[in-house]
Amino acid sequence: MKRKRILSGMQPTGTLHLGNLEGALRNWVRLQDQCEMYCCIVDWHALTTLYNRTDQIAESRRILVAEYVAAGLDPQKCAIFLQSDVKEHAELHLLLSMITPLGWLERVPTYKEKKENLNLEPEAISYGFLGYPVLQAADILVYRANAVPVGKDQAAHLELTREIARRFNHLYGEVFPEPQSLIPEETAVVPGLDGRKMSKSYGNAITLADDADTIAAKVQSAFTTPTKIRKTDPGDPENCVVCRLRRIYDPNHFQISWEECRTGVRGCVQSKRELTELLNAVLEPIRKRRTELLSDPTELDKILSNGAERARATAAETMKVVREAMGISTA
Ligand code: TRP
Repeated sequence: MKRKRILSGMQPTGTLHLGNLEGALRNWVRLQDQCEMYCCIVDWHALTTLYNRTDQIAESRRILVAEYVAAGLDPQKCAIFLQSDVKEHAELHLLLSMITPLGWLERVPTYKEKKENLNLEPEAISYGFLGYPVLQAADILVYRANAVPVGKDQAAHLELTREIARRFNHLYGEVFPEPQSLIPEETAVVPGLDGRKMSKSYGNAITLADDADTIAAKVQSAFTTPTKIRKTDPGDPENCVVCRLRRIYDPNHFQISWEECRTGVRGCVQSKRELTELLNAVLEPIRKRRTELLSDPTELDKILSNGAERARATAAETMKVVREAMGISTA
């Protein structure tokens, strides 16, 4: 049986946090053994918001490769590459832009949200900003990917990708499979330190770059049960960040600690100390590998150029089929 082809990507916008690790990367790492995987660093997408801070994108790209690999993606098993190294993404984006009705894009919830919430200057709401999901569709369709492992927040983009694929197939003939989203049942929503979803923009994240002391200090500051002042006061683990993180990082034994918290047999001091240890055990090897890789630019370049070569081979094949289907091939 042919292996499923999978494409996924993240924007290079800075160091990843536990939410990215548990919500996405872990799943990619599992998939790399069974599937033909393409792991993209979507640096052109980052231009939609960082067009005037491109130095940040350049730096974040290096960090993201290092973090992909440190988290367990194996460059032998999956192609790790920069979107901007595979020009076929841009060509397909242009072609798809001609068959994507504006109305479809204006209705995308992430567009409406960003436009309303990010407090952007009117000139920051660019043509490319509106077209963000078309570029994402090109990222996926240029590999004729069968599936895309993304979080729920990307569901609308993926639906639009399928609509664009259907429209293309209807106009020019069957070229693209309709990519399915691979959202694992079990993905835990990682709570941030303040109890909201962990997110870079909320400033409530524990990152892959945090050292042991920083992690300890962050856990120390995490939201717990406000009415649990003394150890013997009953806690409410379902609504306590420390307990919720404990469940994610100690899935087989967290119940005991939750029960002890509820009944006032343990206090937050103990819970925080233990969580810090659990987090460090997971993050230390990742952090170490991340630092090693970041100090080895030659290795990072090698990973990216090998990845781009593999990605390009697949993307070029698709573009040949696309041009032929559209009747605009020159060769
Ligand atoms: N929009 C995605 C995000 O914000 C990033 C992305 C761009 C992507 N192209 C993609 C994700 C293709 C999956 C597949 O997370």
